[in-house]
Amino acid sequence: MGLPSNGGHEVYFRAPQIIMVLILMVSTSVHGAHFDDAFQQTFGGERVKTYGSGGDHLSLSLDQYSGSGFTSKKDYLFGRFDMQMKLVAGNSAGTVTTLYLQSDPSTGRHDEIDFEFLGNASGHPYTLHTNVFGEGKGSREQQFRLWFDPTNEYHTYSIVWNPRLIMFLVDETPIRVFLNHEKHGVPFLKKQPMKLYSSLWEADDWATQGGLVKTDWSKAPFTAYYRNYNVDTARGGKWWTHDLDANSRRKMRRIQKKNMIYNYCQDAKRFPEGYPTECKHYKF
Ligand SMILES: *[C@@H]1O[C@H](CO)[C@@H](O)[C@H](O)[C@H]1NC(C)=O
Repeated sequence: MGLPSNGGHEVYFRAPQIIMVLILMVSTSVHGAHFDDAFQQTFGGERVKTYGSGGDHLSLSLDQYSGSGFTSKKDYLFGRFDMQMKLVAGNSAGTVTTLYLQSDPSTGRHDEIDFEFLGNASGHPYTLHTNVFGEGKGSREQQFRLWFDPTNEYHTYSIVWNPRLIMFLVDETPIRVFLNHEKHGVPFLKKQPMKLYSSLWEADDWATQGGLVKTDWSKAPFTAYYRNYNVDTARGGKWWTHDLDANSRRKMRRIQKKNMIYNYCQDAKRFPEGYPTECKHYKF
């Protein structure tokens, strides 16, 4: 986030009013990170909490009775979305923490870009699950093992969405790209605006080792933490023209080789009639 330029330091010495204005401008920018300004709760009552200086942190929790979630007040058509998250620590088996963009569900032509973090028993790694739905068509899962413990510290999860591509990044490293393949007849997400959502819920029937490991409610409430979200929609910015340069491509290839644990584009059993079109043009 850029701070507003103050147009030269000499103004500090001219008029106290100007100093006041500058202080206000600077604090507006910093306080732009207040969750209550940009987001509203979707479910979970008091399980959604904002805290810290003026509400620049947020936490979601989950117990036997309910999970919780929030959504952006605004809709976006393209943008770069960054969120720092610290996931449920300890025995998080059966919990799912999500961060995703989704179009208005009532249109029936569902667009969605998903990060889902599937918890695990203590000492076992999370699975980072990703998916892309375009005009109702999903089933494009790719899953990763993270190369760090996502419960120790905050890490930055980002979605870049421009007319050419959708990119998933973890701490600035691209892990997945979904290119615009309209020229091959694959619908791309570009007609419907989307809101940013996040939630923490329970799915022990499928999330953890196919439902074998159950949620340990004696450890509830489970809590995930958020800070430093940033949404950049200024067209013409770096994200708008973001293409995969050679360096990002190399980084992504390395991560995919080492950390990808599932790729729908390599699951032959699932597609006996042949892979989805975008997989045939997948060249990373
Ligand atoms: C939990 O950890 C085990 C390895 O100990 C792994 O095989 C499994 O995929 C993990 N489950 C999830 C949901 O990440």
